[in-house]
Amino acid sequence: MTRELNTPVITIDGPVGSGKGTIARSVANALGWHLLDSGALYRLVSLAALNRGVALDDVDGLSRLAAALDARFGSDADGEEQIWLEGVDVTSSIRTEECGAGASTVAALQPVRDALLGLQKGFRQAPGLVADGRDMGTHVFAEAGLKVFLTASPEERAKRRHKQLNDKGIDVNLAALSRDIEERDRRDSERSVAPLRPAEGARILDSSGKSIEEVVRTVLDWAAEL
Ligand code: DC
Repeated sequence: MTRELNTPVITIDGPVGSGKGTIARSVANALGWHLLDSGALYRLVSLAALNRGVALDDVDGLSRLAAALDARFGSDADGEEQIWLEGVDVTSSIRTEECGAGASTVAALQPVRDALLGLQKGFRQAPGLVADGRDMGTHVFAEAGLKVFLTASPEERAKRRHKQLNDKGIDVNLAALSRDIEERDRRDSERSVAPLRPAEGARILDSSGKSIEEVVRTVLDWAAEL
């Protein structure tokens, strides 16, 4: 077995607003492990397509963009996440709902998913990786030692996402956001390609009514069993 395959992985999958981004980051920080925000990769492909005028139904064009994605992940002096696309800081611009909807569309294309597979697997580096997304446990890291499926009630997810966007200065209507989330959930779960569902052996964690600390503690307790 190669060294890379001995490196432990925790997968955290779940729908929009389940809190997986926040939880995955906190768990990675607590363990001192690497973090893969796989949703950001689909968002970057969507943004790259917009920048280059590649249509969201141009499968070949999108696959080429994904295969050659020039993305860089890092953090600023305060430890806040920073993401660059072709050298340009796109940390906020990939978080818009427009970019999220585009990401969901490109993510439904198998050739795009295939093109991003190697890049995602490359994040598995010592001492360990926390991977957050939709198919981390079902597909990309199916052999992970701990797979978590994080969920929350639809109302709570819409409220959290609303707050998250507001905090970033992005003004959206809660009712419209709920509809968008419902639509995106439906698309992500019903698509034939890598649908969102709990991986075999995944531990289901409902974060409704729980604090971030409680959810992180639960995941860390499970991780201690690894
Ligand atoms: O987690 P997010 O909202 O940043 O993800 C953006 C979109 O990308 C989401 O609609 C689903 C898709 N996605 C996916 O299909 N597979 C992943 N591993 C991560 C995200």
